Amino acid sequence: MAGFQSLPGFREFYPEDFSRRQHIFRIWRQAATSYGFQEYDAPVLEPLELYTTKSGDEIETQLFSFTDKGGRDVSLRPEMTPTVCRLVGAKAGALKRPIKWFSIAEFYRYERAQKGRLRAFNQFNADIFGEAGPEAEIELIALLIQCLAGFGLTKDDFYVRLSDRDLWFFFLEALGFNDVQSRGILGAIDRYEKMGDDAFKGYVEAHGALDDEKKARVLAFLQIKSLADLEAALAPFASEKLNTRLGDWRKVLGGLGAMGLSDFVSVDLAVVRGLAYYTGFVFEAFDRKGDLRALAGGGRYNDLVKKLGYADLPAVGFAIGDVTTGLLLEQRGLAPTFVNAPDIYAVLGGEKERFAAFADIRALRAAGWRVEYPLKDVAFGKQFKTAAESGAKLALIYGGYELAKGVVKIRDLTDRSEREIPRDRVAEAVRDALGGH
Ligand code: HAM
Repeated sequence: MAGFQSLPGFREFYPEDFSRRQHIFRIWRQAATSYGFQEYDAPVLEPLELYTTKSGDEIETQLFSFTDKGGRDVSLRPEMTPTVCRLVGAKAGALKRPIKWFSIAEFYRYERAQKGRLRAFNQFNADIFGEAGPEAEIELIALLIQCLAGFGLTKDDFYVRLSDRDLWFFFLEALGFNDVQSRGILGAIDRYEKMGDDAFKGYVEAHGALDDEKKARVLAFLQIKSLADLEAALAPFASEKLNTRLGDWRKVLGGLGAMGLSDFVSVDLAVVRGLAYYTGFVFEAFDRKGDLRALAGGGRYNDLVKKLGYADLPAVGFAIGDVTTGLLLEQRGLAPTFVNAPDIYAVLGGEKERFAAFADIRALRAAGWRVEYPLKDVAFGKQFKTAAESGAKLALIYGGYELAKGVVKIRDLTDRSEREIPRDRVAEAVRDALGGH
């Protein structure tokens, strides 16, 4: 073996990969701040218990956990949700409402590595605490859409599937399932798209035979793809609780419609989410072609803050992953080529010209421009080639001829136009050509 290799499912970010990741983070951060979310961060290593007090989620079998030197059972974080509940829960009384928070961080799950699924990945998490009404869902789903639309992705590239575990629990209860059985059925529905009928095997093993007629009704409910169909399916129950809930549905869909986002959202009862803490609306974002695993997932989790020992605080949120987002951007040709491109490439005649250019280069950099120049003397032709390949927009040419005349040549690398400018007007000429600063 030559040297050492990184562990399976862990990525190394060479500068080009890193700049693509930075681009993704930048768009997410921009979206979150424009929606008024505040950024936070938290530990990578957490008490194991934080993840095992829930109820047998798949995520618990995927923990990178160990005993530390102090004998504590600890785990690398597989997700942010329990942690952010602790942060908010611990200071719930002091925090201004609504609590709208976001983070960008790395997570660890011992998964079988496959396309779009790694053992270390980044997520953007956004959550709203202290708002029980569907207004919070509108805000978050709109933010999720912006987190993808910000890259130039459109309604033809991705969509958000909206579902509701409240409605599922109500419906399953009406069919005669108790709470534990209902959770088993929801687990099967979560796997149904991937596994088909086999998805129910686990349920049958745990809870006994599943009546054919009931199963058919479950499968029919799962096919529902519009609010009208949902209303029709629930009308026979004539329940006050259901009517209120359908009112919430109209609010969420109406609000997103008013934001001009209807084309991005589909009613889709097949989504139930794998994590057991969700209590109401749940949603997932997918690419339209269906080539990739989920881009994002989230929903309401009104009981988790309390379950972790804090105040009774309603919450809703989502996380979007950088792995699937990156794959989708690449597929659509939207991954940036020149994220770290300089603004300006300085082409230098020789040693004397290099020193003459240094004052300008330092001043331009101090003014915030990204400026590159060759560290060693190389031929002009080669420098122009490097300048073009760097993605710079401008070249500043410091040749012996120019300096003797007291000028610098400024070349627009996009249209190759050139002009001479006096030495003392370089900053001004750059500003004119590039705008800003
Ligand atoms: P999740 O569905 O487990 O939800 O993950 C959200 C997103 O993270 C997925 O849609 C996917 O893009 C990405 N992701 C998850 N696991 C992996 C993996 N092994 N490799 C690559 N990407 C992955 C949650 O984590 C919830 N805590 C989200 C949430 C926030 N709910 C409320 N607030």
